Amino acid sequence: MAQLKLSTQAWTSQTIFILAAIGSAVGLGNLWKFPYITGENGGGAFVIVYLLCILLIGLPILIAEITLGRAGKASPPQAIANIVRETGSSKLWVLLGFNAVMGGLLILTFYSVIAGWGIAYFVDSLFGVFSGMNADQAQQHFDDFVASPSGLTFWHSVVMLLTILIVVKGVRSGIERAINIMMPGLLIILLVLLGYATTTGALGQSFEFLFKPNFSALTTDSVLIALGHAFFTLSLGFGTMMVYGSYMPKDYSIVRASLWIVAADTIIALIAGLVIFSIVFGNGLEAGSGPGLLFQTLPIAFGQMTGGWFFGTLFFGMVVFAALSSAISMIEPAISWLEQNWGFTRRKAAWTLGLFSWTLGLGSVLSFNLWKNVHFLQDKTFFGTMDFLTSNVMLPLGGMFTALFVGWVWTQQQRDGESGMPPKWSNLYGVLVKFVAPVLVFVVFVESVT
Ligand code: PHE
Repeated sequence: MAQLKLSTQAWTSQTIFILAAIGSAVGLGNLWKFPYITGENGGGAFVIVYLLCILLIGLPILIAEITLGRAGKASPPQAIANIVRETGSSKLWVLLGFNAVMGGLLILTFYSVIAGWGIAYFVDSLFGVFSGMNADQAQQHFDDFVASPSGLTFWHSVVMLLTILIVVKGVRSGIERAINIMMPGLLIILLVLLGYATTTGALGQSFEFLFKPNFSALTTDSVLIALGHAFFTLSLGFGTMMVYGSYMPKDYSIVRASLWIVAADTIIALIAGLVIFSIVFGNGLEAGSGPGLLFQTLPIAFGQMTGGWFFGTLFFGMVVFAALSSAISMIEPAISWLEQNWGFTRRKAAWTLGLFSWTLGLGSVLSFNLWKNVHFLQDKTFFGTMDFLTSNVMLPLGGMFTALFVGWVWTQQQRDGESGMPPKWSNLYGVLVKFVAPVLVFVVFVESVT
């Protein structure tokens, strides 16, 4: 029998695994997407639906994904292949692993472009570009910024380069070291900003906006958006949690780790929302401004408020930490695959994949300027197409099949043994991964592609 290919790397401790997974989960999804989709979908009621999705679907699939990674102990395609061999199930399941590897890489192509905006805005803020800006000027600044292919390419390259330089060093000297700096940094900044939010006089208003449900603003579309976002924000369906799980020693508790990851990701998203809306409302601006909330609305506030330079720079610094700690987790599944199955050195794998993602990312750069009116899928730009293919197709499919695999290929005993599920939760978990999660995800998938 052929030798099983296994990962040779391992996390130094349970805590650093949890931190790295939180680093992956907390990203542009929390700081950029969550506040604006909440704004667009009317606030409180949307937040409740989102929290339900996280609990009923996100958490079980997160546990499933980490468990698959640890049990298969290899890159996603290989981990699945290893389990398929042990359980004698269909080889077709390995497609799930390829979906994961490809999905992560493809999402990185455009995530890196937006993360680049974050770095550019951090530098702008640091050099006082926003001070005194009014609404028109902030809008003009954004329009000029995205109109420049060379500018966007530059910042996209910076993100990709930083990502490569971190992952090239491996799990312990690369990812762990970066996480040890970025995660405490992110947390401290968030708390400082929360402190500031209490002084804006608008904390109560943003609290009400986020937590007071108004169900009349809720549409079926909002439910779809909430579920899609629950996946995205927990980095599910792209093999990230699988590959991070594959570096996890057997004696760590997957269930406990997952609870931490979900709690931290959710709390950070909510605090970020409170901070952002306090700044927005405190300066008399609008919450429902869509994707422009972070890069168009917030700079107006930073331009007008006292201490805007300081808080603006901190804020965009936090965006950079959040985005980079997610970017490294998107490329890792593919790196481990090239290493384990194709004999690449880590260095070669990181540079090859980085270059691939960088090149495809140029299409997203151009979507905001030269290719603004070039449509790929239906009326979508290149950026929109990539986002749609990953977030609305590959991600739900990946998540659904992950749940099905864990639910139906493994017996209850195998499933619980691998994840360390406490017996009192075992049946509920079984029902969630076998039925609830796959069915709901399927419904959302069909709705979103039709
Ligand atoms: N969870 C990340 C965010 O919220 C995005 C992400 C998706 C990261 C998929 C890794 C894999 O920004």
